[in-house]
Amino acid sequence: MYNSKIIGLGKYVPENIVTNSDLEKLMDTSSDWIIERTGVEERRHVVKGDGNGTATMGVKAAKIALERASLKAQDIDFIVFATMSPDYYFPGSGVLAQELLDIPDCPALDIRMQCSGFVYAISTADQFIKTGMYKNILVIGSEYQTGGLDMSTRGRNISVIFGDGAGAVVMTRTENNQEGVLSSHLHTQGKHAEELSLIGPSTRRWVPEIITKNDPEDISYYPNMNGQFVFKHAVVRFTEVINEGLKKTGWSSDEIGLLIPHQANLRIAQFVQKKFGLSDDQVYNNIQRYGNTTAASIPIALTEAWEEGKVQPGTKVVLAAFGSGFTWGSVMIQW
Ligand code: UT7
Repeated sequence: MYNSKIIGLGKYVPENIVTNSDLEKLMDTSSDWIIERTGVEERRHVVKGDGNGTATMGVKAAKIALERASLKAQDIDFIVFATMSPDYYFPGSGVLAQELLDIPDCPALDIRMQCSGFVYAISTADQFIKTGMYKNILVIGSEYQTGGLDMSTRGRNISVIFGDGAGAVVMTRTENNQEGVLSSHLHTQGKHAEELSLIGPSTRRWVPEIITKNDPEDISYYPNMNGQFVFKHAVVRFTEVINEGLKKTGWSSDEIGLLIPHQANLRIAQFVQKKFGLSDDQVYNNIQRYGNTTAASIPIALTEAWEEGKVQPGTKVVLAAFGSGFTWGSVMIQW
């Protein structure tokens, strides 16, 4: 059995910065409320027609990750693409990434696990590398979600939080079983599926049905979130799943070099930091600048942390996520 390790990282975010003051002009909200309750100061929005989409942003991030890994796209054996905002209902965005990267016949798998998508994607890639089936895997997390948000006061509890962007990593095999991904821990709890969901265009609410009824009250095509309920579960599950990883690896919380929590809400990250008694240097947050970019949030944060020199050979890195499903998970990486 091999281990898998990350050898290249990249990120891409759209140029268009949307500040809290910009949102104040669209809905009844205030910058103070947004910062106090979520920590978000600004986020990036795709502007329709700017050439950015879920697959194209993912590929921009992937090209940087490939260059840093000193690999060509054609060296990739498998693409794992995590997103909850795919370009099409079907096929998935992974096939579009394969085409854009021009890797003939390379298999591509979409992962639809929302905010936990990247953690699931890394774990999936790790299994394929462990068994020896694939050597080099490109893992992408990308989201273009702001085009589908309710930007009126009605949707403010969600629309102020989310942003667009992409991150990607290249993973490869190593024969050193003391490095790379040491363990991953995945969970779901479908009974809370509708607490954070987008029901509308689906087999439960087919598009023709929505159009035919033409009911102005039917806003099932917008995401909905029971914020406080999600928040309460998030803090519990983050704690549990990080503990699970610490137990498996035998690491103490003092030994964590860098925790990268999914960027859902700064208050959630701060709660987790306090729970484990971590210093500010041990936790990486960038929700202030990008909001919640769902499956892209961890790879964007991991890339920035690496660019800032916070992830070095030997660093013990913990990735942890919680989100719609509910889904949650962690990945323990010895860099
Ligand atoms: O990434 C996947 C997982 N997602 C999460 O983990 C998100 C978890 N939840 C949260 O982050 C928080 O629940 C929110 C940020 C979504 C909301 O914060 P909250 O402190 O839980 O606020 P709330 O929903 O309890 O609402 C408090 C008040 C309400 O007004 P009333 O009923 O007290 O008059 C809301 O209508 O704040 C109001 N409100 C807003 N006010 C100004 C909700 N959104 C806004 C807004 N601006 N954007």
